[in-house]
Amino acid sequence: MADHQSVLILDFGGQYTQLIARRIRECHVFSEVVPWNIPVEEIRRRSPAGMILSGGPASVHDLEAPCCDPAVFSLGIPVLGICYGMQLTAHLLGGRVEKAREREYGRITVSLTGESALTHGIKTESPCWMSHTWQVAECPPGFRSIAASASCPVAAMACEEKQLYGVQFHPEVTHTEEGTLLLRNFLFGICRCAGDWTMAAFAETAIQRIQAEVGPEGTVLLALSGGVDSSVAAALIYRAIGSRLACVFVDHGLLRRGESEEVCRVFSQLFPVRFVRADASKRFFEDLKGVTDPEAKRHIVGRDFIDVFREEAARLGRLDHFAQGTIYPDVIESGQGTNAAVIKSHHNVGGLPAQLGFTSLIEPLRMLFKDEVRALGESLGLPAGLVWRQPFPGPGLAIRVIGEVTPEKVKIVQDSDAIFREEMAKAGLDRQVSQYFTVLTGVHSVGVMGDERTYDYVIGLRAVTTDDFMTADWARLPYDLLAVVSARIVNEVPHAGRVVLDITTKPPASVEWE
Ligand code: XMP
Repeated sequence: MADHQSVLILDFGGQYTQLIARRIRECHVFSEVVPWNIPVEEIRRRSPAGMILSGGPASVHDLEAPCCDPAVFSLGIPVLGICYGMQLTAHLLGGRVEKAREREYGRITVSLTGESALTHGIKTESPCWMSHTWQVAECPPGFRSIAASASCPVAAMACEEKQLYGVQFHPEVTHTEEGTLLLRNFLFGICRCAGDWTMAAFAETAIQRIQAEVGPEGTVLLALSGGVDSSVAAALIYRAIGSRLACVFVDHGLLRRGESEEVCRVFSQLFPVRFVRADASKRFFEDLKGVTDPEAKRHIVGRDFIDVFREEAARLGRLDHFAQGTIYPDVIESGQGTNAAVIKSHHNVGGLPAQLGFTSLIEPLRMLFKDEVRALGESLGLPAGLVWRQPFPGPGLAIRVIGEVTPEKVKIVQDSDAIFREEMAKAGLDRQVSQYFTVLTGVHSVGVMGDERTYDYVIGLRAVTTDDFMTADWARLPYDLLAVVSARIVNEVPHAGRVVLDITTKPPASVEWE
């Protein structure tokens, strides 16, 4: 948000770049990740309080190495280079970067070797997270080394006069014990940030922006999926323009138990917008009849969703703007930095604004991380049950019923999943485990209930921990919890005859079964 002090992070492709932005925001300073080749005029226009050059996989000596305009160092704006960012600073300003004698990886002890505003109050010796092959062998003129490790003579460098700094280690990683203090020194001691960026401040600015964009008469249509992001976007836009917001919620009958009702309750009572719930479950089940291929199911759900949405939108009459709940990781992961409008490739809404002929696309959350979206949702008064909802795939339970999807099978997944969720919450694990759900496997198995032989479905339990869903580990749930979940499912859910636990990591398996 340009109205707030911000710190720009020039992204050189480092794996921790998003983490730097998060750490800075945790200090209540707004930060934005921008591409490394952002023009200097653009930086001037944004007038950030400080800049960070991120790490990255390249060597400054590579022919194709990403290289920012050297003018970034003479804008009078403090700069902190991290890892590759430090090497690039040294390289561009006349220092020397060499291959390290020993590649440093992991926790390395770093000792302070000189005073600096950057390391003020930091312990003389502390563990830092390193991951590098190249290092600064000689500081550029005007800089001095302020920290070293056993094999890295310049683990940090400073030019106080120009407020230019570099660290070879990663202060954003929690293994770097004094990392937060170092970042705070940069933000508050060097960049003189006020630290006044809060969710309340964000909401206020975002509301003003929406009002300015939509104008006093304009109307907005939002596709509500029932997930966290679109619900928070709806609540925010409602605060900005009240009943000029209309929401279309396509209920495909493939949601978890109770979710459709909760979305309807929230958006008719707490945020009374023009709200259409299109109960299209019949159409979805009809079209999914006989289909067993996972990709075909995805395709059908996606196509029907768009068709239903389009029909309902047409019924509402002409609306000016289209809104959706795109969040910051979607923007960054699309590789487009913050320069271009990005449409979430989520099948529910991708391409819809253009197809429906809207004048503009409103994405009020496109600068927020998931946890910030949740904090914003809570501050806007959305119920915790909705705000803390787990991620849920667009095709819904269609991909958690292996084989053909029928209303009966979906009900088995809904009921078993509700038991799993209930017991996870009772055990206090519902916010610790990233995603957990039940799957109706296509397998039948023999059992005995009372004195009767049964031949019922095998239900799979899937629970994973992950930071980004690109990789995941299976959650080590307590045996006692698993015992209760299993007993309840086979006792309470008709046609659930056996429960198994999925103990596969991603990769090679995916989180979902289909
Ligand atoms: P996978 O199964 O790909 O899941 O390891 C990673 C995360 O993405 C979710 N997921 C989807 N989300 N449309 C979505 O919007 C989809 O088709 C889809 N498939 C998987 C999954 O729930 C997990 O959080």
